[in-house]
Amino acid sequence: MRSKREQWSSGIGFIMAAAGSAIGLGNLWKFPYVAGTSGGAVFLIIYIFFLVILGIPILLSEMAIGRFAGENAVDSCKKLSRKFGFVGALGIAGAFLVLASYGVVGGWVIKYIFKSFSGSGFGTDFFADYTAQPIEPILWTFVFIAINVIIVTGGIAKGIERVSTILLPVLLIFLIGIMIYCLTLPNAAQGVRYFIVPDLSKINSISDLSQIAINAMGQVFFSLSLGMGTLITYGSYLPKSTNLTSSTVTIVTLDTLIAVIAGFAIIPAVFSFGLEVTGGPGLIFQTLPVVFSNIKGGQFISALFFLLVLFAAVTSAISLLEVIVSWFSDKTGLSRKVSSVIAGGAAFLMCIFASLSFGVLSETTIFNMNFFDFLNFAADKIVMPIGGFFMCILVGHIWGIDAALEEISNSRKLKFRLKPLFSAAIKYIAPAMIIVIFISSFF
Ligand code: PHE
Repeated sequence: MRSKREQWSSGIGFIMAAAGSAIGLGNLWKFPYVAGTSGGAVFLIIYIFFLVILGIPILLSEMAIGRFAGENAVDSCKKLSRKFGFVGALGIAGAFLVLASYGVVGGWVIKYIFKSFSGSGFGTDFFADYTAQPIEPILWTFVFIAINVIIVTGGIAKGIERVSTILLPVLLIFLIGIMIYCLTLPNAAQGVRYFIVPDLSKINSISDLSQIAINAMGQVFFSLSLGMGTLITYGSYLPKSTNLTSSTVTIVTLDTLIAVIAGFAIIPAVFSFGLEVTGGPGLIFQTLPVVFSNIKGGQFISALFFLLVLFAAVTSAISLLEVIVSWFSDKTGLSRKVSSVIAGGAAFLMCIFASLSFGVLSETTIFNMNFFDFLNFAADKIVMPIGGFFMCILVGHIWGIDAALEEISNSRKLKFRLKPLFSAAIKYIAPAMIIVIFISSFF
């Protein structure tokens, strides 16, 4: 016999946890550099388009599945259709892949907090030299994973919800402070312009545009934690009275707000010192520290910034771990604590290889990618789109829009005015778009 399923202690607590899952490295690390390399404002517009047409309907669907079924990601999908357990299984595999790369970056972030405090500054080669080391990054990664294991061991209301409810408001408030500060730096206006005024000269061909679309769609999935079973799992701890639609809108709004605030902080700061925003993944680890080392009190701003990045990363990593733990403990009957330790341990093993791929294993490649890049590729470009596609098929064509709306409207106690739009998005538009972009991403 399974013990009674845990629940969130309040609607706000759930929103904080789910928004905490959404808001993560995707917002503070990926979004600014992907926007930076994908043409700034043009990217932002396409991103918002996908957010509305794919992000919101899929997020809502995942939450509805979870609350309807009240099971872990695999069993929830199975409950809708016996043959669709693989959608949940894909999510669990994906959560594992993301956690492995998240753990490595989370470890860097902890190192950067301490390094900022030490006041010795970051040389231009610090990032490359540090990440190539064999031992130290792995130790910090271990610390990062251990923090997550401890929180998840605490359970839904007392662990995940409590931590998210504290960290998320702190993140929001201090990030706004940093943004205001960055916007007052000399030449910040140039960065603002880059971020909000579309530069159409960046798009010279259909292939440029499709590249931006691929990045934008991937970013929507990643940033909203879609296709990984996260919202199914979190939804399964919801009481029947929660308003899923308004929760979805709040979560998406908060997630987008934080990404945009991060963009408004980082891009102008980088412009202000005449540095490149198009440098890619090193943007907050390589370029930004140079900015911090050039401004008065930069040491503290740097420490604060990386602390906020850590908060964001933790509230996301616990959601990834929870997807695995909830399935694993249901499957094996092991306690939450033992399951968390085992799942965290397994993720840590993957992290070791991912971390080493910046140094001693950098020549070892899978499909021409080092292990870290391969993890990201497999999660972003394979698991998330395939999972998202079948999620749409499951909800739109198997469970059915009417049944989904019955759950979304709390058995018609709440009004849901957007049925035609939701129905069209889930049944046709989203799956078609995912397929087109998925295929074009291979050319
Ligand atoms: N949404 C998180 C972020 O933006 C990452 C994540 C993806 C978390 C998938 C859970 C599931 O960083």
